[in-house]
Amino acid sequence: MKVIERIKKPISYEMELFEKKFRLSMSSKVALLNRITHYIVNRKGKQMRPMFVFLSAKMISNGEISERTFRGASVIELIHTATLVHDDVVDDSNHRRGFFSINALWKNKIAVLVGDFLLSKGLLFCIDNNDFDLLKIISVAVREMSEGELLQIEKARKLDITEEVYYEIIRQKTATLIAACCSLGAASIKPHSKDVETMRKFGELIGMAFQIKDDLFDYGTENIGKPTGIDIKEQKMTLPLIYVLNQCSKKEQSWLINSIKNHNKDPKRVKEVIAFVKSNGGLEYAVSKMKSFQEDAIKLIEHYPNSQYKEALLLMVNYVIDRNK
Ligand code: IPE
Ligand code: IPE
Ligand code: MG
Ligand code: MG
Repeated sequence: MKVIERIKKPISYEMELFEKKFRLSMSSKVALLNRITHYIVNRKGKQMRPMFVFLSAKMISNGEISERTFRGASVIELIHTATLVHDDVVDDSNHRRGFFSINALWKNKIAVLVGDFLLSKGLLFCIDNNDFDLLKIISVAVREMSEGELLQIEKARKLDITEEVYYEIIRQKTATLIAACCSLGAASIKPHSKDVETMRKFGELIGMAFQIKDDLFDYGTENIGKPTGIDIKEQKMTLPLIYVLNQCSKKEQSWLINSIKNHNKDPKRVKEVIAFVKSNGGLEYAVSKMKSFQEDAIKLIEHYPNSQYKEALLLMVNYVIDRNK
C-alpha cells in the first residue's frame, strides 16, 4: 500500500464525506462564480490540511469526531484554497495543481474576488454554526498568513533577509494554517484541554518543515504541478540561498545580490545562481533544518498512547518531507 493510502485508511470515511461537504460549501447563485468553483473542486490538491484535522481529532479522542470536526476541515480547506488563488496573483504564477491557475484563465480581477468569496464562505460557515472557538483559531491564522506574505514582499524588495526572518515568514504564511488544522482538530472534540496547545505547536513545527520542502521543490526540475525556478525570478530568497549567502566570500555575495537585484529575469543568470547554491551545500543545509523541525514535532506527540491514528499522523509527518508534489 502506498504511504498516502496508509495515512488515509483510518480516516477514509471522513475524507469521503468531507469531499461532499466541501463541494457544497462553495456554492453560489452567481453562475460565473459557480463555473469557477467547479473548476477549483475538480482539480483538488493533496488535501493534507483536512487530513491533519481528522487525524489530530481522532488521536486525542481515540477515534471519536463530531460535526464540528467536519466543519473545521471544510473551513480550513476553503481558506487554504482562497489563499492559493490569491497567492498565484501575488506570485504571477500561471499553473496550479497541474492546470492553469485562476488568474491565468480569468485574470487577476476575478481571481481576487473569487479568493475573497472563498474566504468569506469559510468564515461564515463557522459563524452560522456558532463555532466561535474554531473561528478564533482560523482568524488568527488568516491574519498571520497575510502578514507573512507581506513580510516576504518587504524582504524581497530590500533583499536583506536573515535566516531568522525567513523562519518568521514561513511560520506566518504556511505553518500557522497547519497549526490551526491540528489545534482545531483537538478543539473540535476537547475545547478546553491542554491538547489544543500541544497540537498547535505540533502543527506549527510540521508546517515549517512543509514550507522548507516546498522551497526545495523550487530548486528542482521535477513536475510538481506548479512552476519551479520562480522564486529567484520573484526575488524571493529562501533557506538554501540565505545559507549560501552567509557562507560565501564578499565577492560572491555581491555577485549573488546583484544577480537577484538586476538580473532576476535573465534565465541564464538565474540558472547560474541556482547552480551556485547547489554546489555550495544550500540544499543539504535546508534538508537538515527541515528534518530538525520534523524531529521536534514528533517529540511533541510521543506521549500519546499508540493507536492507528497516531501511527497515521506519524506517517503524515514523514510524508510532509518525502512527498513528490
Ligand atoms: C501549497 O500547499 C501552498 C504552500 C503552503 C506551500 P499544498 O502543497 O498543500 O497545496 P495543495 O492543496 O496540495 O495543492
Ligand atoms: C504559498 O506560498 C501560499 C501561502 C502560504 C499563502 P508559496 O508562494 O511559497 O507557495 P507555492 O509554491 O506558490 O504553492
Ligand atoms: Mg507566494
Ligand atoms: Mg506561490
